[in-house]
Amino acid sequence: MADTSFVPSHTRVFLSSEQIAARIQEMGAQIDRDYPQGPVYLIAILKGAFIFLSDLARAMKTPARIEFMGISSYGKGKTTSGEVKVTKDLDVSIEGQNVLIIEDIVDSGVTLTYLMKVLAQRKPKSLKIATLLDKPERRLRPVEVHYVGFQIPDEFVVGYGLDYAEDYRNLKDICILEG
Ligand code: IMP
Ligand code: MG
Repeated sequence: MADTSFVPSHTRVFLSSEQIAARIQEMGAQIDRDYPQGPVYLIAILKGAFIFLSDLARAMKTPARIEFMGISSYGKGKTTSGEVKVTKDLDVSIEGQNVLIIEDIVDSGVTLTYLMKVLAQRKPKSLKIATLLDKPERRLRPVEVHYVGFQIPDEFVVGYGLDYAEDYRNLKDICILEG
């Protein structure tokens, strides 16, 4: 049973921290099976993926290196501006490396389509995507997502790293923001 005592009244729990934790253990095990040689560069997209990264990285046994990239495609609202830019780039070369992009949620697919193109040019050995959440109904650009935690309906969600105008990132459950 999720502890909802601190959840603001205009949110409701959609995925509890317990459900998220269980699914991430499965994802970690799947990644371990897929990268028996290791190591993997986990490239987390700031800021939304920071909690998912920290849990997924510890759910896998495959040796991992942790990197961050900043990408912006959203303004302060709930809809994409359609413009994508790199706000923080990698400090390392990924040439010849196994790379796994760690994303909080795939919505229109605009961000990841752009990022896959940018990173593929750097000649990694492999390049895949792991996302905690996927809203397939909202897709504008087709993007192959290799690891999906949960497919969710077209609702705006916050918590567990995800924000609305920079708020709610530290909720431990994933909640639907109403209104
Ligand atoms: P895309 O380019 O439309 O796929 O945008 C993906 C990004 O939009 C995610 O990394 C989030 O930062 C943001 N986003 C999309 N849907 C939601 C949501 O329901 N809650 C919070 N952020 C979202
Ligand atoms: Mg965001």
